[in-house]
Amino acid sequence: MIHYMLSKLKSQAEHASALQSGGDFTAALANYELVFEALRYYDGLGYNRETDEIRKLCIEAQPTPVQTLYCHSLVLFHQRSLQSALDAAEAALLVAPQTALIHLLLARIHASIGNFPAAYASCQAGEDISGTAGDTRFMINAMQALPGDDYYDWLHYFHETLKPAVYVEIGLGHGRSLALAGKGARAIGIDPYQGFWENLNYVSPDIPATLFPLASDDFFKQHDLRQEIGKSTFDLAFIDGLHLFEQVLKDFINLERYARKDSVILIHDCLPVEAIVAERERCTGFWTGDVWRIIPCLKTFRPDLRIMTIPTYPSGLGVVTNLDPLSTGLSDNYDEILAYYLKLKCPGTFDQRRVVCSVGLADKDYIKEQFCNK
Ligand SMILES: C[S@@+](CC[C@H](N)C(=O)[O-])C[C@H]1O[C@@H](n2cnc3c(N)ncnc32)[C@H](O)[C@@H]1O
Repeated sequence: MIHYMLSKLKSQAEHASALQSGGDFTAALANYELVFEALRYYDGLGYNRETDEIRKLCIEAQPTPVQTLYCHSLVLFHQRSLQSALDAAEAALLVAPQTALIHLLLARIHASIGNFPAAYASCQAGEDISGTAGDTRFMINAMQALPGDDYYDWLHYFHETLKPAVYVEIGLGHGRSLALAGKGARAIGIDPYQGFWENLNYVSPDIPATLFPLASDDFFKQHDLRQEIGKSTFDLAFIDGLHLFEQVLKDFINLERYARKDSVILIHDCLPVEAIVAERERCTGFWTGDVWRIIPCLKTFRPDLRIMTIPTYPSGLGVVTNLDPLSTGLSDNYDEILAYYLKLKCPGTFDQRRVVCSVGLADKDYIKEQFCNK
């Protein structure tokens, strides 16, 4: 399965080069970024010879010296060789100082190093040239506001700590979070668009997950999770599907029916770094939607639950335990809850959002004691 993924990534890299030759650099870049990020995962599994070959193919496909330097910097950035990435991007900028993309890449590299004044200066330079910084400014703001481990690191931490025998994920993206399910775990992945191996870039080196190409509501209507997992309860679940409050609430209600008191449900995107990324109508590339509403809602309607949001890049991770599969507090009041919470305005400042979203300390010992107490 890993070789299947690596050959798929190679085809994706070739597709990116073809897009670039055809003049669609934006689409090419989106593909290169996905490929380079996924290659780092396979480096971690020891497939460096194969991953380096794919990177080389991409760099060799670059038509000009500036694009070669840019691509090389991007490769290094995704390998987390940040100083070398910075050197390559600065060299590219010497040759083509009026290229917004280089400034924006530099901004991301500076932010990853922790040099925020330089990151904002590069972001501004890119914005001045192209008229937009795209998502770069949101990403820098989020890195500055939410330092430390990112949410993938935290997901890894929950897998390591809880060692779940059964893991359920709603919303797969490219499969990076799903692939964190460890040895011996029975993993279930649900996603109407991405729930096919052909669409994923990551696979666990252990048992591959079982995929359901269905919207989460349809999955719970058509399947009995107990039958799919061969057990009556799951240990760990991750909600990261449709980023609208009513859907997250439904996903939570549906999952809790298959939970034990000590099962854990994680919810992505509970702490938007800016109010605009939390609009229900998506108007930014980086988008959390109004998932944040689930935290004050659960706090009020389910005081029996143990809840907090971990302040982790890029948009917080909600953690919920002390679950009750027999509770009807949410389903009985579903309409009333929607009527109230959909009117709740997203708090204007980040500090206010921290309070409303019950943000606690990103302290592993504390979180283990409070949430991973089997
Ligand atoms: C942000 S991505 C998930 C990222 C992934 N969990 C990760 O961390 O790498 C959100 C995913 O939710 C999926 N999605 C959208 N609506 C959904 C629904 N109703 N049920 C399940 N998944 C849904 C999208 O297809 C998309 O792949």
